[in-house]
Amino acid sequence: MKKILIAFLLVFFAFFSFATIKIGVVLPLTGGVSAFGQLVWEGVQLAHEQVLKVLGEEIELVLIDNRSEKTEAANAVSRAIEKEHVLAIVGEVVSGNTLAGGQIAEEKHVPMISPSSTNPLVTDGKKFVSRVCFTDPFQGGALAVFAKENLGLKKVAVFVDIEQDYSVGLTNFFIDTFTKLGGQAKKIYFKSGDQEFSAQITQALSFGADAILVTGYYPEIALVAQQSKMLGFTGKLLAGDGADAPELIQIGGEAVEGLYFTTHYHPDAKVTEKSKEFVDAYFKKYGRKPSTLSALGYDAYMILVDAIKRAGKADSELVAQEIRKTRNFEGATGIINIDENGNAVKSVVIDVVKNGEFAFEAVINPDQIVVK
Ligand code: PHE
Repeated sequence: MKKILIAFLLVFFAFFSFATIKIGVVLPLTGGVSAFGQLVWEGVQLAHEQVLKVLGEEIELVLIDNRSEKTEAANAVSRAIEKEHVLAIVGEVVSGNTLAGGQIAEEKHVPMISPSSTNPLVTDGKKFVSRVCFTDPFQGGALAVFAKENLGLKKVAVFVDIEQDYSVGLTNFFIDTFTKLGGQAKKIYFKSGDQEFSAQITQALSFGADAILVTGYYPEIALVAQQSKMLGFTGKLLAGDGADAPELIQIGGEAVEGLYFTTHYHPDAKVTEKSKEFVDAYFKKYGRKPSTLSALGYDAYMILVDAIKRAGKADSELVAQEIRKTRNFEGATGIINIDENGNAVKSVVIDVVKNGEFAFEAVINPDQIVVK
């Protein structure tokens, strides 16, 4: 009897001394938008190195690739919850994948925090899915105001990726504000993975567009930029945050020079003390300036860990609630507040591609866009 008791106690202590808090990290590390996943992962790893423990326990990261696919994103979330028993999940990057994975997280009552998914439906009607970024009604509005007032554009051809919830939504929000401001817009469709855009570009030319806006992601934005130049389009090129990966320039080269896009962050805009520290720490670890998605990934991890700390125990319901009580959190991307609906209210940054780099152009604050 005594021996059994000792054996039991040994197992008991062994178990508890190795107790960890598991956090799932679900990202597109391969496939169409793999650059996005890699960048977020860099930021999450840096944050993890800086904060290794919470509630006195080690934090263990469980990284799962979803190959940039919606079904895989849902599978990855299921696996993180059922097999790995994670307390919470950081992810996904793109809205379509966060929508697919978020549905599972919601059903299983496991908090999920997206660094970057901006489509309103990502958090709509949910309790467990939140984000550390602004949403697309604001991003689309800011882009429209910039296009109309700053660039003086009148006719915009909007290239819509019909496979991406993000692109479909952002297109509508842009057009809504742009037409209210007196501009004209025409939707022209394509699909993720398309390589050939001459039919779409010809339509944009015959519409008489003074700009092409591609609301998709960097691989297609870069190709549209190249092919539109080849077909004689001389107007402006615009995009949303989906342009924001160094691969845009690697693929697009000269053709993306002068492209304007809305985004969340620029490393030269050192908004908080934390932003400066982050840029330095990132530079030390990776030898280059951080990208937007690395900064957002860093913030998502830090905010999640802060919420776990405030919850006081590893309880998923409490953690989900605490995430939405995040107030004045000093992050790499600025001061972050997450509202009761799981959305952050933040400024939009406008970048332009200049001399093969992303140059900081302007900031638009939430209260600056009032369009009736
Ligand atoms: N906002 C995009 C989406 O929701 C994702 C994204 C954010 C991509 C930031 C790049 C940079 O799909």
